[in-house]
Amino acid sequence: MTRGAAWTVHLSVIAAGTTGVVYGWMRYFCEPDPEAFTIQNHALEDELQAAHIVLVPLLVFACGLLWRTHVWGRIRANYQPRRRTGMVLAFALLPMVLSGYMIQAGASPFWHDLWIWMHGTTSTLWLLTYAVHQLSSPGENDATPPRFDNKV
Ligand code: HEM
Ligand code: HEM
Repeated sequence: MTRGAAWTVHLSVIAAGTTGVVYGWMRYFCEPDPEAFTIQNHALEDELQAAHIVLVPLLVFACGLLWRTHVWGRIRANYQPRRRTGMVLAFALLPMVLSGYMIQAGASPFWHDLWIWMHGTTSTLWLLTYAVHQLSSPGENDATPPRFDNKV
């Protein structure tokens, strides 16, 4: 992976992660100001929501950039270093992205709440796993190039 690709992924995770976490904190852990005559829990809630919606496609793009060689190529090649956290990242990506968009598209309150729960759990799991994936000490095989051909 080039330095540019690695930093594209890191920055997109920081952008999506911080806006998501701060927005969630405002929505679920802040109390509305009783004198402000508003249904918002925090004055910047709408701005954070907008920032999250605008920035998250960068993360989808960044993961797309890695998918063919770093992710799917390594899964198919049975590549072992950091495999466990890599698999969690790969398989939690779809429900995280899908549930995020379904929060906006979901029709009934039941489905809306279900998508919010799914998005909250998958995105928290994804962020924590991403940190472990980055911070795990390099395995002795980390330096070994993966053995898969580029046609996968
Ligand atoms: C990286 C970690 C992420 C975290 C911590 C996070 C967190 C959150 C939270 C807390 C909400 C508010 C849920 C609610 O309405 O109560 C939310 C909404 C949303 N997220 Fe994420 N998210 C993350 C990644 C993503 C990704 C990758 C996508 C899609 C590509 C995405 C798309 C959305 C969308 C579209 C909403 C709906 C906004 C709304 O209408 O309120 N999120 N996210
Ligand atoms: C969506 C899934 C994944 C994402 C977003 C992801 C992201 C990343 C990023 C950004 C790095 C840092 C690269 C650098 O600084 O050069 C990295 C390193 C690494 N990842 Fe992943 N990864 C994923 C899946 C996987 C899978 C499935 C495996 C193995 C089966 C894996 C194995 C590794 C290893 C061994 C490293 C250490 C450096 C290297 O060999 O490139 N990753 N990953």
